[in-house]
Amino acid sequence: MKEEKKKIQNNFIVAAGLLALFILYTVAIMFVDVQPIGPQGSSVGFAEVNQYFHTLFGVNMLLYSITDWLSIAVLFIMFGFAMVGLVQLIKRKSLFRVDSSILVLGGAGYIGSHTVYELIAAGENVVVVDNLETGFRKAVHPDAQFYLGDIRDKAFIDSVFEKEDIDGVIHFAASSQVGESMKDPLKYYSNNLCGTEVLLESMVVHGIDKIVFSSTAATYGEPESIPILETDPTVPTNCYGETKLSMEKMFHWTSIAHNLRYVSLRYFNACGAHPNGKIGEAHNPETHLIPLILQVPNHQREYISIFGTDYDTKDGTCVRDYIHVNDLAQAHILAMNYLRNGGKSDIFNLGNGVGFTVKEVVETAREVTGHPIPAKEEARRAGDPSTLIASSGRAKGILGWKPQYADLRVIIETAWKWHQAHPHGYKAD
Ligand code: UFG
Repeated sequence: MKEEKKKIQNNFIVAAGLLALFILYTVAIMFVDVQPIGPQGSSVGFAEVNQYFHTLFGVNMLLYSITDWLSIAVLFIMFGFAMVGLVQLIKRKSLFRVDSSILVLGGAGYIGSHTVYELIAAGENVVVVDNLETGFRKAVHPDAQFYLGDIRDKAFIDSVFEKEDIDGVIHFAASSQVGESMKDPLKYYSNNLCGTEVLLESMVVHGIDKIVFSSTAATYGEPESIPILETDPTVPTNCYGETKLSMEKMFHWTSIAHNLRYVSLRYFNACGAHPNGKIGEAHNPETHLIPLILQVPNHQREYISIFGTDYDTKDGTCVRDYIHVNDLAQAHILAMNYLRNGGKSDIFNLGNGVGFTVKEVVETAREVTGHPIPAKEEARRAGDPSTLIASSGRAKGILGWKPQYADLRVIIETAWKWHQAHPHGYKAD
């Protein structure tokens, strides 16, 4: 928004000039003790001021032929412009700062849109790029500058960096369905890896040196020990996790060769919705546990399938670490500020460090919704690890991350609020 910013700054300078004139005029009327010399012995002090300027600069700045009424109108216009300028200044606190923007790639998606809302709430200027393949235009915060396009399109991404004043990038623009990645791996190599390669090339050329990256617990594969540490082996068991791990490696080697630092955030099970009720989870097709459970009380599904009851866990169902999407959003802001403050490239897990079984999640949803939510026990879903729980000590210690919505009940309450109000996601709004 470089040009727009310049325009606003120019408007502000004009408005500030007019305000200064207005103040000067008023002060002159109040304090300059000169004889009225205007044609009507002006009662609003027009002639006095004219005399004042005349005396001060030796220049006849105002015309005698202008009537008092016209002079009042001019005053009001000057004052109006000045007020508009002031309002612009207040609305855009950072008008005269080097107020560059954060570029959020994939900012119309689930976690991206929540991060954009939180960035704007934190006073950042935000530019969103999304190809709207899985994201929704309506999920983009109205104050964000939106560009429709694909990160694999080099000319497009270059043009965004040229038009905008970008301080750092938060990168969510990737395909993220485990099942789909096994059926169509090349889609994942194209969107996730080729897209990131084009992005990094453009960042290097344009001197953008900070990137926060949306990674996943799927990079670990089947864990060797619980809770999972960032230093644990990474052996992905699906193509999605493999491409995310390769993206992390691309950042690593690029950061060694070029002036660029990155933070990779490996999330566990993202869930919940923004407490403001305006944005939430909307996937098509939906495969995630909590939104699928909530389709039952929302009369869109008769029962929830429980995939596998013979795991080595307390009730035989899989254990996951559910983390609220707003807490993830906050972690991205902290990570960007960490890089701004000179932090070195790093990788952090994001989870609550507490595991819940599928049955426990269903039970909590019953309590929240007051609906019996029938469940059907079914065979295991291919590729599901038994237990995934994060150790997020490093994110807490180094980034200062403090999850605010760690209670599973609260997580489901926020999701329920969203799904009740938007049973068909953004489409029916
Ligand atoms: N589940 C059911 N019934 C359903 C849907 C899911 O029992 O109808 C179970 C799954 O088998 C799993 C648990 O609920 O045990 C959670 O499943 P999700 O699909 O909600 O989430 P996943 O743990 O499979 O996947 C999440 C992210 C992935 C990421 C992965 C990391 O969605 O992007 O964690 O392991 F890769």
